[in-house]
Amino acid sequence: MIPQHRWQTYPTSIFSVMSAEANAAGAVNLAQGFPDFNGPEAVIEAACDAMKKGLNQYAPATGIKSLRDAISRRYQTAYDLKYDSELEVTVHSGATEAIWCAVQAFCGPGDEAIGIAPFYDSYPAACHAGGATLKTVALKPPHWKVDANEIERLVTPKTKMILINTPHNPTGRVLTRAEMEGIAAVARKHDLIVISDEVYEEIVFEPAVHIPMASMPGMRDRTITISSTSKTFSFTGWKIGYACAPAALTEGIRRVHQFTVFCSATPLQHAMVRAFELGDEYYKQFRSDYLLRRNSLLASIRAAGFDAPAPEGTYFISAGYERLAPHVNDLEFSLNLVRHQKLATIPLSPFYLPGDPVCKELRQVRFAFCKTPETLKKAEQILAAIGPAT
Ligand SMILES: Cc1ncc(COP(=O)(O)O)c(C=O)c1O
Repeated sequence: MIPQHRWQTYPTSIFSVMSAEANAAGAVNLAQGFPDFNGPEAVIEAACDAMKKGLNQYAPATGIKSLRDAISRRYQTAYDLKYDSELEVTVHSGATEAIWCAVQAFCGPGDEAIGIAPFYDSYPAACHAGGATLKTVALKPPHWKVDANEIERLVTPKTKMILINTPHNPTGRVLTRAEMEGIAAVARKHDLIVISDEVYEEIVFEPAVHIPMASMPGMRDRTITISSTSKTFSFTGWKIGYACAPAALTEGIRRVHQFTVFCSATPLQHAMVRAFELGDEYYKQFRSDYLLRRNSLLASIRAAGFDAPAPEGTYFISAGYERLAPHVNDLEFSLNLVRHQKLATIPLSPFYLPGDPVCKELRQVRFAFCKTPETLKKAEQILAAIGPAT
């Protein structure tokens, strides 16, 4: 007899559902957020070199020193944030694993975490695994603004942490200084840890500016900043992420990390040292390529009758289809789109807690534009043919 009561409480990820649909339909896949192009050649060569040199055995659990140093230097140059690479920087197998470890370390049975919905879908799973509860503040289109008062209303004596994400997937919002300050004030007042998922930190479009939570007054000592080379260097399949946090928090994260994966792929860590050496020119080009992709897909989405604010960051556009199909829920809309028009998107309601009343009226799907011009062109041709019958 196979016990099912444990695993059945984890839903099947919407990404698996929509990718299977996309494959079955032979659709253009703007559903899952992975680039359909390679990251920099120099980084691939560095990985091959590392493997050929025999750097193929377990790395230190905390990550190789040269990569921790490179991450520490990047925080210093980009944000003037200082992290001691020995005690405050940890390499993880993707941001997902870092989030998992951070949640397990500080949020246990009976504890509560407060998040913002829509959320990256590993957050509730990580809380649930540890026996904690995730409560959320639901953002609403079209402005998707974060109201810190709503966060504060959810604080109870059981609350241990606030989990945020900026630049925000799926809405494309980059939280403003005022919004960040509002969240920071709640964390300081109630002595809470903040896990700040900043994996899209390098994909921000002017005039928006990414403000790390750790740079807000009084926040460095209570913030775990999580980021990933998946997004910054376009190697989502390599799963090299990292966490920066003060030593006291890092110690907790590292204890859990030892018993999840112990360490991340050694040659890929060496390659990421090379990636961090690419420097400012790389980041500039990276952003300007994404800006072109964003603008071109956004224009097609709007021309097709969707209502979509321009994303300030990330490689996602959340678009409202109310004018196209006012009475169809978002899962059905996405399924119709992939099955009949051969265009895969992601409905937004799976990024809210089950039963969240906001989802009743939510008429939103997410398009990913981390795709080649050829893929985007195909998507744009499909969009040009879409009408109110969808
Ligand atoms: C907000 C957010 N956090 C974390 C991740 C996962 O990053 P990684 O691939 O490094 O695990 C994603 C990936 O889609 C994401 O959108």
